[in-house]
Amino acid sequence: MRSVSIIGTGSHLPDRVLTNADLEKMVDTNDEWIVSRTGIRERHIASEDEASSDLAVRAGEKAIAAAGINKDEIDLIIVATVTPDTMFPATACLVQDRLGIPQAATFDLSAACTGFLYGIATASQFIATGMYTHALVIGVECLSKIVNWDDRDTCVLFGDGAGAAVLGPVETGGFQSFELGADGAGSNLLSLPAGGSRLPASPLTVEKQLHTLHMAGREVFKFAVRVMESATDAVLEKAGLKREDIDFLVPHQANIRIIESAAKRLGLSRDTFIVNLDRYGNMSSASIPIALDEAVRSGRIQVGDQLVLVGFGGGLTWGACVLQWTMEGGAD
Ligand code: ACO
Repeated sequence: MRSVSIIGTGSHLPDRVLTNADLEKMVDTNDEWIVSRTGIRERHIASEDEASSDLAVRAGEKAIAAAGINKDEIDLIIVATVTPDTMFPATACLVQDRLGIPQAATFDLSAACTGFLYGIATASQFIATGMYTHALVIGVECLSKIVNWDDRDTCVLFGDGAGAAVLGPVETGGFQSFELGADGAGSNLLSLPAGGSRLPASPLTVEKQLHTLHMAGREVFKFAVRVMESATDAVLEKAGLKREDIDFLVPHQANIRIIESAAKRLGLSRDTFIVNLDRYGNMSSASIPIALDEAVRSGRIQVGDQLVLVGFGGGLTWGACVLQWTMEGGAD
């Protein structure tokens, strides 16, 4: 089996920024509540004519450029998203066409906020076995399109964006272990109830706002703290590492209190955690690859660093990996 690593990263955020002060004018909320309960100060919001594929293409182009390969060398494109442009065709097909990579196999992957981790775990298997050589994995969301903007419980939490990674074979380092999990019994805790085959679109589903995101926040919070610890420990054990061997942990960016609780339980300093949720909110599958891209481009992550990426979300799903970093950073 070949060793596999991330050899290029990229990200793209829509231009429009929505601040907590802006939200104060839309629902009964305030900056103090949002910052103290979540850590979020602002988020980026796609324009009316912008869809997930538009953001994904921009992030994908940057990741391919950073990898220093020709787009003809990409064999597989996976787009992880819960906000595809349409139910079908897959957004990955639209991205494949717009990027001009006709030779690549493509599919969408639905694992909510854990989508990027499921995506890189899947893509790395194809490369490790030699079936493919390079894969482009994109986490992208336009959550602003499915948020109920009258519901203060949820509308303050989410943002839009795309993060991408090119995976390829390496001599040493790269992915050391993966852990993926799901608990379908918790499927009702986070969902978009209508628009599928269970509840097709109808005047009633629109009236009841069932085409928007529904979340049981407290339950998800407790689950998130628990699995961040257990999934991190599981991948460390598989890789033969200890908690103190982690140089950087790139968590899903849902709530600063979830990250702080996980840091405490894991006995790791806050500096170990890559955090950018104050500027972007929760971008579901895009959060981890965007945080990773920023940390790589700023030069914070260096060759040889031991990273843990860990995510959790709707499904319920969770996932983590240990990745010994192999790519020169500091592109910005
Ligand atoms: N502004 C002001 N007050 C608010 C707001 C708001 N935006 N939202 C809720 N409140 C109020 C509530 O009404 C409640 O008031 P009450 O006590 O009078 O009833 C009070 O604040 C406390 O509400 P809680 O829900 O208990 O607040 P909590 O501290 O649990 O924070 C939150 C809520 C931020 C949603 C938290 O539970 C959380 O982060 N959960 C995890 C969410 C998550 O991680 N999702 C990830 C997956 S997303 C995906 O997969 C797409």
